[in-house]
Amino acid sequence: MKIALTKGRLEKDAVALFEKAGMDVSALRDKGRRLILPFGDDLQAMLAKAPDVITYVVHGVCDLGIVGKDVIMEHGGRYFEVLDLGIGRCHFALAGKKGGDFYVGHGVKTVATKYTEVTRRYFESKGQNVDIIKIEGSVELAPLLNLADGIVDIVETGKTLEENGLEEYSHIADISARVIVNSVSMKLKKQRIEEFINRLGECVLCSKL
Ligand code: PRP
Repeated sequence: MKIALTKGRLEKDAVALFEKAGMDVSALRDKGRRLILPFGDDLQAMLAKAPDVITYVVHGVCDLGIVGKDVIMEHGGRYFEVLDLGIGRCHFALAGKKGGDFYVGHGVKTVATKYTEVTRRYFESKGQNVDIIKIEGSVELAPLLNLADGIVDIVETGKTLEENGLEEYSHIADISARVIVNSVSMKLKKQRIEEFINRLGECVLCSKL
Protein backbone atom coordinates (compact mmCIF):
# COMPACT_ATOMS: atom_id res chain seq x y z
CA MET A 1 0.00 0.00 0.00
CA LYS A 2 1.12 3.52 -0.77
CA ILE A 3 0.84 6.14 1.96
CA ALA A 4 1.36 9.86 1.31
CA LEU A 5 2.98 11.34 4.39
CA THR A 6 3.22 15.06 5.14
CA LYS A 7 6.90 16.05 5.24
CA GLY A 8 8.38 17.87 8.22
CA ARG A 9 7.02 18.13 11.76
CA LEU A 10 4.15 15.71 11.22
CA GLU A 11 6.48 13.22 9.55
CA LYS A 12 8.61 12.83 12.69
CA ASP A 13 5.62 12.19 14.95
CA ALA A 14 4.03 9.82 12.41
CA VAL A 15 7.23 7.79 12.08
CA ALA A 16 7.41 7.52 15.89
CA LEU A 17 3.81 6.28 15.88
CA PHE A 18 4.53 3.68 13.14
CA GLU A 19 7.46 2.45 15.23
CA LYS A 20 5.32 2.24 18.35
CA ALA A 21 2.88 0.15 16.32
CA GLY A 22 5.70 -2.33 15.72
CA MET A 23 6.49 -1.36 12.11
CA ASP A 24 10.03 -1.31 10.75
CA VAL A 25 10.84 2.38 10.15
CA SER A 26 14.61 2.14 9.60
CA ALA A 27 14.43 3.44 6.00
CA LEU A 28 12.26 6.36 7.12
CA ARG A 29 14.78 7.26 9.80
CA ASP A 30 17.72 7.05 7.42
CA LYS A 31 16.10 8.50 4.31
CA GLY A 32 18.68 10.96 2.98
CA ARG A 33 16.96 12.84 0.14
CA ARG A 34 14.76 9.92 -0.95
CA LEU A 35 11.06 10.66 -1.28
CA ILE A 36 9.74 7.09 -1.52
CA LEU A 37 10.61 4.89 1.45
CA PRO A 38 9.62 1.35 2.34
CA PHE A 39 8.37 0.66 5.88
CA GLY A 40 6.46 -2.00 7.79
CA ASP A 41 5.96 -5.25 5.87
CA ASP A 42 4.70 -4.04 2.48
CA LEU A 43 4.16 -0.30 2.89
CA GLN A 44 5.63 2.63 0.99
CA ALA A 45 5.71 6.18 2.33
CA MET A 46 5.64 9.05 -0.17
CA LEU A 47 6.95 12.24 1.43
CA ALA A 48 4.90 15.16 0.17
CA LYS A 49 3.83 18.71 1.01
CA ALA A 50 0.58 18.73 2.95
CA PRO A 51 -1.86 19.88 0.20
CA ASP A 52 -0.24 17.42 -2.23
CA VAL A 53 -0.98 14.55 0.18
CA ILE A 54 -4.65 15.22 -0.49
CA THR A 55 -4.07 15.47 -4.26
CA TYR A 56 -2.29 12.09 -4.38
CA VAL A 57 -5.04 10.41 -2.36
CA VAL A 58 -7.89 12.01 -4.32
CA HIS A 59 -6.32 10.85 -7.60
CA GLY A 60 -5.83 7.35 -6.21
CA VAL A 61 -2.06 7.19 -6.77
CA CYS A 62 -1.74 6.78 -3.00
CA ASP A 63 -4.17 4.63 -1.02
CA LEU A 64 -3.83 6.55 2.21
CA GLY A 65 -2.60 9.91 3.41
CA ILE A 66 -1.49 11.41 6.69
CA VAL A 67 -2.24 15.10 6.83
CA GLY A 68 -3.30 17.83 9.26
CA LYS A 69 -6.95 18.69 9.80
CA ASP A 70 -6.00 22.29 8.86
CA VAL A 71 -5.22 21.18 5.31
CA ILE A 72 -8.32 18.97 5.16
CA MET A 73 -10.50 21.92 6.26
CA GLU A 74 -8.91 24.20 3.68
CA HIS A 75 -8.81 21.86 0.68
CA GLY A 76 -11.65 19.36 1.03
CA GLY A 77 -11.92 16.76 -1.77
CA ARG A 78 -13.42 13.29 -2.17
CA TYR A 79 -11.84 10.83 0.28
CA PHE A 80 -12.61 9.25 3.64
CA GLU A 81 -11.20 10.69 6.86
CA VAL A 82 -10.87 7.62 9.07
CA LEU A 83 -8.63 8.22 12.07
CA ASP A 84 -7.46 11.04 14.34
CA LEU A 85 -3.82 10.24 15.13
CA GLY A 86 -3.69 12.71 18.02
CA ILE A 87 -0.32 14.06 16.84
CA GLY A 88 0.45 17.52 15.47
CA ARG A 89 -2.02 19.07 17.88
CA CYS A 90 -2.64 22.81 17.48
CA HIS A 91 -5.58 25.07 16.65
CA PHE A 92 -6.86 27.69 14.26
CA ALA A 93 -7.20 31.10 15.87
CA LEU A 94 -8.19 34.62 15.00
CA ALA A 95 -5.45 36.87 16.35
CA GLY A 96 -4.16 40.39 16.09
CA LYS A 97 -2.29 43.15 17.89
CA LYS A 98 -2.55 43.10 21.68
CA GLY A 99 -5.46 45.30 22.71
CA GLY A 100 -6.57 45.57 19.06
CA ASP A 101 -10.09 46.69 18.13
CA PHE A 102 -11.13 43.81 15.87
CA TYR A 103 -14.61 43.58 17.37
CA VAL A 104 -15.07 47.34 17.72
CA GLY A 105 -16.94 49.50 15.20
CA HIS A 106 -19.01 48.69 12.13
CA GLY A 107 -16.35 49.00 9.41
CA VAL A 108 -15.37 45.91 7.41
CA LYS A 109 -12.22 44.40 8.93
CA THR A 110 -9.34 42.95 6.93
CA VAL A 111 -8.04 39.49 7.74
CA ALA A 112 -4.75 38.06 6.42
CA THR A 113 -4.32 34.31 6.19
CA LYS A 114 -2.86 31.37 4.36
CA TYR A 115 -6.21 29.61 4.94
CA THR A 116 -8.68 31.70 2.93
CA GLU A 117 -11.39 29.02 2.76
CA VAL A 118 -11.34 28.33 6.51
CA THR A 119 -11.44 32.09 7.13
CA ARG A 120 -14.29 32.68 4.68
CA ARG A 121 -16.40 29.92 6.26
CA TYR A 122 -15.64 31.05 9.83
CA PHE A 123 -16.76 34.64 9.26
CA GLU A 124 -19.72 33.51 7.17
CA SER A 125 -20.88 31.36 10.11
CA LYS A 126 -20.56 34.43 12.36
CA GLY A 127 -22.42 36.61 9.86
CA GLN A 128 -19.48 39.05 9.78
CA ASN A 129 -18.39 40.56 6.50
CA VAL A 130 -14.57 40.74 6.19
CA ASP A 131 -12.02 41.36 3.47
CA ILE A 132 -9.58 38.46 3.18
CA ILE A 133 -5.98 38.83 1.96
CA LYS A 134 -3.97 35.71 1.10
CA ILE A 135 -0.50 35.49 2.66
CA GLU A 136 1.83 32.54 2.10
CA GLY A 137 3.69 32.40 5.43
CA SER A 138 4.81 34.40 8.49
CA VAL A 139 1.24 35.70 8.49
CA GLU A 140 1.94 37.41 11.82
CA LEU A 141 3.67 40.19 9.86
CA ALA A 142 0.40 41.39 8.31
CA PRO A 143 -1.10 43.12 11.39
CA LEU A 144 2.34 44.38 12.43
CA LEU A 145 2.67 46.11 9.05
CA ASN A 146 -0.95 47.33 9.30
CA LEU A 147 -1.96 45.33 6.23
CA ALA A 148 -4.70 43.62 8.23
CA ASP A 149 -6.73 44.04 11.42
CA GLY A 150 -6.38 40.37 12.21
CA ILE A 151 -5.00 37.04 11.06
CA VAL A 152 -6.39 33.53 10.94
CA ASP A 153 -3.51 31.16 11.54
CA ILE A 154 -2.32 28.06 13.32
CA VAL A 155 -1.32 28.43 16.96
CA GLU A 156 0.68 25.66 18.58
CA THR A 157 2.57 26.97 21.62
CA GLY A 158 1.45 30.60 21.22
CA LYS A 159 5.09 31.75 21.22
CA THR A 160 5.00 33.34 17.76
CA LEU A 161 2.02 35.48 18.76
CA GLU A 162 3.54 36.38 22.13
CA GLU A 163 6.97 37.30 20.80
CA ASN A 164 5.46 39.56 18.16
CA GLY A 165 3.12 41.49 20.43
CA LEU A 166 0.01 39.72 19.16
CA GLU A 167 -2.80 37.96 21.02
CA GLU A 168 -5.50 35.43 20.28
CA TYR A 169 -8.99 36.96 19.88
CA SER A 170 -10.93 33.74 19.19
CA HIS A 171 -10.36 30.00 19.08
CA ILE A 172 -11.68 28.70 15.74
CA ALA A 173 -11.06 24.93 15.60
CA ASP A 174 -8.83 22.22 17.02
CA ILE A 175 -6.37 20.57 14.64
CA SER A 176 -4.50 17.24 14.67
CA ALA A 177 -3.19 14.79 12.08
CA ARG A 178 -5.70 12.53 10.36
CA VAL A 179 -5.53 9.43 8.18
CA ILE A 180 -7.40 9.82 4.91
CA VAL A 181 -8.24 7.01 2.47
CA ASN A 182 -8.94 6.97 -1.26
CA SER A 183 -12.53 5.85 -1.83
CA VAL A 184 -11.69 3.15 -4.41
CA SER A 185 -8.82 1.75 -2.29
CA MET A 186 -11.25 1.63 0.62
CA LYS A 187 -13.31 -0.92 -1.36
CA LEU A 188 -10.54 -2.84 -3.14
CA LYS A 189 -8.04 -3.06 -0.25
CA LYS A 190 -10.55 -2.97 2.62
CA GLN A 191 -8.96 -5.68 4.74
CA ARG A 192 -5.39 -4.40 4.43
CA ILE A 193 -6.46 -0.83 5.12
CA GLU A 194 -8.53 -1.85 8.15
CA GLU A 195 -5.56 -3.80 9.53
CA PHE A 196 -3.30 -0.74 9.18
CA ILE A 197 -5.87 1.64 10.70
CA ASN A 198 -6.62 -0.69 13.62
CA ARG A 199 -2.94 -1.14 14.37
CA LEU A 200 -2.39 2.63 14.44
CA GLY A 201 -5.69 3.18 16.26
CA GLU A 202 -4.63 0.89 19.13
CA CYS A 203 -1.42 2.90 19.51
CA VAL A 204 -3.30 6.18 19.55
CA LEU A 205 -5.61 4.79 22.22
CA CYS A 206 -2.64 3.60 24.32
CA SER A 207 -1.03 7.05 24.13
CA LYS A 208 -4.22 8.58 25.55
CA LEU A 209 -4.36 6.23 28.57
C1 PRP B 1 3.13 28.05 12.05
C2 PRP B 1 2.04 29.09 12.17
C3 PRP B 1 2.61 30.07 13.16
C4 PRP B 1 3.45 29.20 14.06
C5 PRP B 1 2.72 28.93 15.34
O1 PRP B 1 4.06 28.53 11.16
O2 PRP B 1 1.75 29.67 10.91
O3 PRP B 1 3.39 31.03 12.52
O4 PRP B 1 3.67 27.94 13.36
O5 PRP B 1 3.48 28.17 16.24
P1 PRP B 1 3.60 28.59 17.78
O6 PRP B 1 2.22 28.89 18.30
O7 PRP B 1 4.20 27.38 18.44
O8 PRP B 1 4.50 29.78 17.86
P2 PRP B 1 5.15 27.63 10.43
O9 PRP B 1 6.32 27.47 11.31
O10 PRP B 1 4.50 26.37 9.99
O11 PRP B 1 5.58 28.52 9.20
P3 PRP B 1 4.80 29.61 8.29
O12 PRP B 1 4.68 30.85 9.11
O13 PRP B 1 5.69 29.79 7.13
O14 PRP B 1 3.45 29.02 7.93
